[in-house]
Amino acid sequence: MMNIRPFFEHLNVDHIHELATKSLLKNVIKTYQLPIFGIHGVSHWARVLENGMRLATVTGANIKVVILFAIFHDSKRQNEANDKGHGRRGAQLASELQTNWLNISKLEFALLKEACELHTDGLTDGEVTLQTCWDSDRLDLNRVGIRTDPEQLCTQAAKDPSVIKWAMERASSETVPDFVRSIWDFA
Ligand SMILES: [Fe+2]
Repeated sequence: MMNIRPFFEHLNVDHIHELATKSLLKNVIKTYQLPIFGIHGVSHWARVLENGMRLATVTGANIKVVILFAIFHDSKRQNEANDKGHGRRGAQLASELQTNWLNISKLEFALLKEACELHTDGLTDGEVTLQTCWDSDRLDLNRVGIRTDPEQLCTQAAKDPSVIKWAMERASSETVPDFVRSIWDFA
């Protein structure tokens, strides 16, 4: 049977090639303290990235920030539970890698930092790129059995029942996007 991949039309792989490079991932993963394919690991980052790219086509969010948020927001977790401060530490890692590895403006970096630092605060109001980042993460909650509550989402794009259903199915089945292997080179 043909493998139907409804997301494909939303994914501009060039963005991933340009922004979420294998070299960047190598640098981020160097200090990641938890299992690489654990609940906050690279499969989650990749689904959040795809969620964000899908939402950004509707919300108009800054795609660079959305992609980099996916990679950094959980990158400095020290445990898989309630890890206070991990968003701030993720933003700090982005700051350390900014000069050599992130091709973003000062304004984009400020958004990335704020998105990472506040992503677990339950906020729903804010600049649209921040909202898109937070929604992209919340849409993947079903990987740990938590149903996505539209009330806790920020954007109308994310609240679309077809988007919630799509993301929840991917989360619960722990889908590993192709680029995790083809671009990031994880086995
Ligand atoms: Fe996350």
